[in-house]
Amino acid sequence: MAQDNAQREGKQAPASRRPEACAIVIFGASGDLTGRKLVPALYNLFANRMAPESFYICGAARSELSDEEFRAKMHAAVEQSGGDMAAWDDFAARLHYQSVIYDDPGSYQALAERLDRLDQEHEVPGNRIFECAIPPTLYMTVARMLAQSGLSGEERGWRRLVVEKPFGSDLASSQELNQAICQGFEEHQVFRIDHYLAKETVQNIMMFRFANAIFEPLWNRNYIEQVSILSAETLGVEHRAGYYEKAGVLRDMFQNHMMQLLALVAAEPPSIFAADRVRDEKTKLFRSLRPFPTDQLYDYLVLAQYEAGDLDGREYPAYRAEPGVDPSSLTPTYATMKVFVDNWRWQGVPFYITSGKRLAQKLTRIEIQFREVPHSLFRQVLGEEIKANRLVLNIQPNEEITLYFQAKQPGGEVDLRTVGLHFEYQDGAARQGLEAYEKALADAMLGDQMLFWRQDGVDLCWAFLDPVLEACESCGDRADRLHRYRAGSWGPRDAAKLWPGHPLNHLERY
Ligand code: BG6
Repeated sequence: MAQDNAQREGKQAPASRRPEACAIVIFGASGDLTGRKLVPALYNLFANRMAPESFYICGAARSELSDEEFRAKMHAAVEQSGGDMAAWDDFAARLHYQSVIYDDPGSYQALAERLDRLDQEHEVPGNRIFECAIPPTLYMTVARMLAQSGLSGEERGWRRLVVEKPFGSDLASSQELNQAICQGFEEHQVFRIDHYLAKETVQNIMMFRFANAIFEPLWNRNYIEQVSILSAETLGVEHRAGYYEKAGVLRDMFQNHMMQLLALVAAEPPSIFAADRVRDEKTKLFRSLRPFPTDQLYDYLVLAQYEAGDLDGREYPAYRAEPGVDPSSLTPTYATMKVFVDNWRWQGVPFYITSGKRLAQKLTRIEIQFREVPHSLFRQVLGEEIKANRLVLNIQPNEEITLYFQAKQPGGEVDLRTVGLHFEYQDGAARQGLEAYEKALADAMLGDQMLFWRQDGVDLCWAFLDPVLEACESCGDRADRLHRYRAGSWGPRDAAKLWPGHPLNHLERY
């Protein structure tokens, strides 16, 4: 218990510690996420000796599969993910499967009995992680059944629930889901995954801000003119039209990943680097978001949808022509939003947040645009305009940080050029980073909630976005307000009018 309390306070041991013996029960074990992400991540943790000494995985899903059939499926999945198969036989011996009907109490009874037997076989003292790799419509059912069957109780070992986004589709549904989860689990047992938070360079934002003395004094309205947060994807809707048609870019990317990036850039320093202290600061930041001016919605928001176009020499269809999409769909696949944080540090500084599908490049980037020099002593020769400093934090695909500043052009003229101080994340690194799911699962096993959403943050972000979604979805001229952009472009021109740092205004930077 002492350890549990320490964990609740966020005083976790360093990540290099090996987790305690535990079982990982994956609901949705025959689905895409399990084979594509979860089992390859667990395999890599195992192969790199970062999984517990004693552990096992129990896949659970509707399909009838034997342990052997499940192992064969997972073998193919791990091989396809490019894993080195040297540790496979040892790993495979820890893979089991139990078929379940998600709303049938008898299935949970049988699962509980099976897990008790497997605990004995693998010398696991009852510690269990329940991972929900199921469609979101089943989250509530599974959470309730875990509570009702007693599987969530911590009488023998700890129990944790890992939930994937989306956490509801608005504030009311998110709270309803949380109530179902709370029937069996307390907040310290719930791990709401945001895979952006587990990306190494996203984690690095806090280290960069708070482990260096030179940036923090400048990190405020006195020196910063604007902040841009961009997550551009080349992928389209893929095979997810059923979900995406209802979600659109605001629910899919803004309510979660983009809000986390905003919080990491803008939150105050916590007094210690501990899960709940960090999450407290994020919560304060979310509370400081200026309510979106829905009466002037489109002065602050540009929504758009991709048209047909080409990218890297390939033709792509319009969003409306993608499989499963309504041919007259008004779902936005792109948004640029201008938001303000009403607090002492950020008053008046615009944050431009953008995300879109089928754009010109895969790129997640945060740009801090500093203010211009207060007085230019070079104005007689150079004019008024001296480019202000700019700090670029590239999250993916290239993980790098560049600080741009002015330097003299070599030669007899008085002339300036913009140069960059550049750092690449893997340069000189002592070890390889962890892939996002590896990090998330390792932390869930260690009980470290630092990189997971807490419910108050989820609620606050929905409370911020709900009025925006309602205004967009109910406005009479919705179709006229939805801009179009060509697949493979940088998005609609109107977004470049709203956001001065838009790639279309600075193509040389991309
Ligand atoms: C997911 C969204 O959460 O993040 C997807 O549902 C999106 O629509 C994905 O493609 C982007 O993640 P990443 O890691 O590729 O930037």
